[in-house]
Amino acid sequence: MIRHRRKVIYLLGFMGSGKSTVGKLLAGVLGWPFIDLDTIIEAGQGLSIREIFENSGEPFFRQIERAALVEASKAEPAVIALGGGTFAQPPNVDLIRESGGTTVWLDCPPEILRVRCQGLENRPLFRDEQSFTNLYMERLPYYRLAEFRISTESHKPDEVVEQILSLRVF
Ligand code: S3P
Repeated sequence: MIRHRRKVIYLLGFMGSGKSTVGKLLAGVLGWPFIDLDTIIEAGQGLSIREIFENSGEPFFRQIERAALVEASKAEPAVIALGGGTFAQPPNVDLIRESGGTTVWLDCPPEILRVRCQGLENRPLFRDEQSFTNLYMERLPYYRLAEFRISTESHKPDEVVEQILSLRVF
């Protein structure tokens, strides 16, 4: 069945891949609202992502992430930056695919992502190099389900935005 393509772009990818930075820029160029899932979750809980993980654990975070996604997916038009783990939860993949938006994977090798994330406070799942790489590898099969893949390895955010616009799907 060919679905109507809604004017919604989901940016997905691992921590540090540029989802929020690129999303904000892309939304500005398109003149569409920008929704950052992590920001919505933090505002809703009145806590940082790290505090949510520390106080209530990852399973609770995934529940509220899912609820935030259900709400965000109703918006149109919108550019939606997902969290690094959002698209690695099968029910979320189904919801996003059924919602009829466009999925774009911002891909970058884990060695570079690790350097970008080092020293950042608000990434509770960044513990050490090995677990970071393992988590990246576990998530690859999900990220590969995205309709489009764009490398952010050696591209500046505005170049990534240009590449997304050149997909000409919306
Ligand atoms: C997570 C990534 C984070 C945030 C939370 C969990 C993950 O988002 O949602 O810390 O599971 O990879 P960013 O990818 O924006 O850092």
